[in-house]
Amino acid sequence: MTYSEKTARVSLKDAPLILGIESSCDETAAAIVRGRTLLSDEIISSASVQAEYGGVVPEIASRAHTEAIDEVVRRALKNAGVSLGEVDAVAVTYGAGLMGALLVGLSFAKSLAFTLGVPLLGVNHIRGHMAAAYLADPALEPPFVTLLASGGHTAILYTQSYDSFTILGSTRDDAAGEAFDKAARVLGLPYPGGPNIERLAREGENNIVFPKMLKGESGYEFSYSGLKTAVINYCHTKEQKGEPICRADVAASFQASAVNVLVERAVRAAKEYKVNTIAAGGGVVANGYLRERLQSACGEAGLKLILPEKRYCTDNAAMIAAEGLVQYRRRNFAPLSLNAAAHIPLGKKGKQ
Ligand code: KG4
Ligand code: ZN
Repeated sequence: MTYSEKTARVSLKDAPLILGIESSCDETAAAIVRGRTLLSDEIISSASVQAEYGGVVPEIASRAHTEAIDEVVRRALKNAGVSLGEVDAVAVTYGAGLMGALLVGLSFAKSLAFTLGVPLLGVNHIRGHMAAAYLADPALEPPFVTLLASGGHTAILYTQSYDSFTILGSTRDDAAGEAFDKAARVLGLPYPGGPNIERLAREGENNIVFPKMLKGESGYEFSYSGLKTAVINYCHTKEQKGEPICRADVAASFQASAVNVLVERAVRAAKEYKVNTIAAGGGVVANGYLRERLQSACGEAGLKLILPEKRYCTDNAAMIAAEGLVQYRRRNFAPLSLNAAAHIPLGKKGKQ
């Protein structure tokens, strides 16, 4: 029997054991879920090596994945207390991300699926970030509003069912995470920028007025390039005048401007779309200031907030397994010819 004939006959389980694999950037990750229960989650990161180069070097990332992938999967199985033979499906990120990096995880996942004769589930990394909320609250069900803020995407979405959403608005230029990384560079902070801005901001005050994003807009769009330019201009002007720059104040003021708009748009969307829940995901959602602001704004508005733990906001394989479960339930099994994709658009504005 061929692999596809075998998977075509698979009878779906209510709570399948899914192995998730993620290798789109600099984290090699594997996780095991049983249904929506997370059993284990392992990460081997090459971030400290990448930091020496000031950012992610694709070639180094690919080599690091090749070295770590076997170990990370073994650890995930061991910590979940399950054997490879018990795995019902293998979910893997096929994009978006660095091609060479993606191919390591994808090829490994394909070999496992083929050998075990179980379905391969191809996961869009961004859908994975959105699905992290399903593990954070196993009772969460659509509809809800999703706030997505990562290194590559920033959007407010209306998630109407497990596999369909409407993009209410997204960024017109830079993503929120990209803005954090660029602002960090201007302030001379090392990679990764986001967490370093957050750390420095704790020592400063939000006392510099940066221009309001898309002033007067009642929609859900974002634009971070103006904020980035404002930070650059502020620092250059100060330097030219020979005035000292309080870097901590710049970090705190930038952070407040970058974050407040996310909170405002998410809460407004929940009210307009008459849902009582906001789910958040993506690396920027690991930001402590954003988390506090979301918690207090949702508290005031009487909204339920699903905030995955910080480690499930940044790249991880638990979220890939969670989105894998959605694909499994739809019998959306991927062929073994599935290729990696460097770019996968989130979708156009409007219903997907
Ligand atoms: O979601 P993610 O891990 O990768 C993508 O799929 O893009 O997001 C990475 C982004 C980076 O831009 C990083 O600077 C930002 O998330 N980030 C943060 C924090 N932790 C990660 N931004 C602000 N504060 C943080 N604590
Ligand atoms: Zn990510």
